[in-house]
Order: sequence, then C-alpha cells, then structure tokens
Amino acid sequence: MENKAGFLLSPNTMLEIKSAPLTHPTENEILIRNHAIAVNPLERAQQDTGALISSYPYIMGLDNVGNIVEVGSAVTNFNEGDRVVALAAGVVRGNPTHGGFQLYTVILERYAVCIPDSVPFTNAVVLPVALATAASGLFESIYLAILVWGGSSSVGSCAIQLAKAAGLTVFATASAKNFEYVKDLRVSQVFDYNEPYVVARVSKRTHTAALPSLVEAAHGKNVVGGYDVISSHATTLACGQFLQAVGGGKIFCTRPDYTPLELQEGVTKAQGQPQHAADDGGPPIWHRVWADFMGEGLETGKLRPKPEPVVLEGGLERLQEGVDMVRKDVSAQKVVVEVTG
Ligand SMILES: NC(=O)c1ccc[n+]([C@@H]2O[C@H](COP(=O)([O-])OP(=O)(O)OC[C@H]3O[C@@H](n4cnc5c(N)ncnc54)[C@H](OP(=O)(O)O)[C@@H]3O)[C@@H](O)[C@H]2O)c1
Repeated sequence: MENKAGFLLSPNTMLEIKSAPLTHPTENEILIRNHAIAVNPLERAQQDTGALISSYPYIMGLDNVGNIVEVGSAVTNFNEGDRVVALAAGVVRGNPTHGGFQLYTVILERYAVCIPDSVPFTNAVVLPVALATAASGLFESIYLAILVWGGSSSVGSCAIQLAKAAGLTVFATASAKNFEYVKDLRVSQVFDYNEPYVVARVSKRTHTAALPSLVEAAHGKNVVGGYDVISSHATTLACGQFLQAVGGGKIFCTRPDYTPLELQEGVTKAQGQPQHAADDGGPPIWHRVWADFMGEGLETGKLRPKPEPVVLEGGLERLQEGVDMVRKDVSAQKVVVEVTG
C-alpha cells in the first residue's frame, strides 16, 4: 500500500500532493483507505493563517469515508472491509499523520461509525465534523425549543436533525433560496436572515406558533436555546435579541475563540468544539451521539447526510480546488473530493 497526501508546507501556500508515510494503527485504531474527503471552513482558515497548526509539513482534513484495511489489536467494533465514516483527528490529537487529506488515514476506533450500503460514500462524508460539532453544543442544556441561526449550513443541518430527533421544536434562519431545503429538514418555521427586522419577525411568529404553550409547560424555566452556527457579532446579537424577547435562554456559538460584543439580560452563552474527552475524563457527548444514533439514524432515515455534496472527481489532486470553493463560500452544499471511483 502506497500512501499519498496533500501537504501544506507553510501558511498561504498551495497544497502539494506527494508520497507520504503509511502509518499503521496502534491497538485502538483502524486504518481507512479513503474513498472521499469533505472540505470544511477550518481547512480554508488553516491554509490562510496556519490556525491550529503546530508544525509543517502539515496534513489537513477532518472528514473521511472509506473501507477499513487494517484494525488494531484491541479493536472490537470493526473488521477489515467495513465501510466507515470517520472524524480524522489530526487537529484534536496534535498529530498531522492523522489528518484526512490523504489516501490512508489512521482513525481512533471511537471516531468511526459503520455506514449502511444504501448510503453512498460521497454522501456519508458530509457528516462527521458537522455532526460532532452540533452534538457537542446542542446538548449543553435541556431545551424544548431552539433557534438554529444558519440552518442551511453543514453544522446547522445536523443541529436541526439532532434537535428534531430529540423531540425539540426547531426554528431556523436561512436565505430565502434555501427555504425548501431547510423545511425539508422538518423545522417548524424558517426565516430569511437577510430581511429587515428578522429578529422581530422570528420572535413574533414563534410566539404565535408553539412557544407560549412550551413555556407554560416548562413552568417558567429557560426552555429556549439559540444555536448560532455562524457566530459573528451580528448573528449572536440577533440570537440574543430573540432569546430576550422570549424570556431568556442560552446561545451556543460554534467558534471556540469567540467573544460576543454583548449579551442581553437573561441570555448566556457557551462555545466550543468536539472534545477528545469530557471534563470528567469520560466520553464526550458527541461520542454517545455517534455510537447510539449515527449508524442507526442513517439506516432508518432519521439522520440524512445533508447538505448534498458537490463532488469533485479525480483524487487528491482536486483538494486544492475544493478548499478554494469553500473559500468562495458555499450555500446548502458540502464540497467533497472523491478519491477513488
Ligand atoms: N468549533 C468547531 O469545532 C467547529 C466545527 C465545524 C464548524 N465550525 C464553524 O461553524 C461554522 C459553520 O460551518 P459549516 O461547515 O456548517 O459552514 P458552511 O456549511 O460552509 O456554511 C455555509 C452556510 O452558512 C450560511 N450563512 C452564512 N452567513 C449566514 C448568516 N449571517 N446567517 C445565517 N446563515 C448564514 C449560508 O446560508 P445561506 O446560503 O442560506 O445564506 C450557507 O448555507 C464555521 O464558522 C465553522 O468554522 C466550528
């Protein structure tokens, strides 16, 4: 087996595709032959600024899908040949040999899930980091209803689906062109964030929809959350205004390094990223969502691999084009590079 990877040699340079060492799995790891790799906003930022990169040459990439070609001695859940989707943990583990932008990636056993034959590789690969991120933030607190600001994004699509599976009432924002897409994820109401007075509209419409009965049912506790996928000052301000209007609540921001300019009275925030371990050293919440929900959800249709992929065929050589597409911004789409046909 010969490995190749897309190397970043320094910030602000093009990816170079060349031979790479083939790392074999240790006892709790598996080795995957990647069939597809998804491109995320993090890779754009890493290429531009070197964010979260401690040394070069560096192999970026978080989302992989493929067949297992080798299992570690203590692996119990997988066999060679299994079709798996996986979170490549180069960033989390501080080790670029675990990066996703290569033909073969070593993955921690608990960072992978088997996928049904009915789900194509290029669809399944849209999920890993988006689902892990959504799960990490969404279940920070107990809510009955949530506003997902950025419902047509990858993380937002996962947050909506997880919230619906958990029985929450979900409101979301998106551009008008993506209303049908977001409605198809079964949100109660979707609002165009580009319209003036959108916060007033959201507050008013949700008040006349399901919120009053939910608030009453919860006896005045904080029951409404905000999931701010975009996490800009404008979007956090808007989520906070909405929460204040409905009696307060908590906003989750996806950017770990982010401090909003202000928070309204009665509004709190949390932020972060999928952790390797929970504060008590046990498995973080997203591991449980993966283990208990992801595979089964894909099998039953409760979890759909959304958004749709824009597939670049032709192997690792197209990774740079994929990062460039993400740099120009995507809308209700995920850029996916197919490594083998
Ligand atoms: N903390 C972590 O570990 C972690 C992990 C993954 C992602 N993230 C962060 O989460 C964010 C989203 O990532 P992603 O992969 O989901 O992004 P994405 O899918 O590339 O986001 C594109 C979407 O964002 C929507 N959007 C842009 N500006 C908006 C606004 N002002 N209000 C509402 N929606 C807006 C667009 O909606 P329309 O086309 O409908 O306008 C578009 O569909 C990024 O900043 C990323 O860095 C953090």
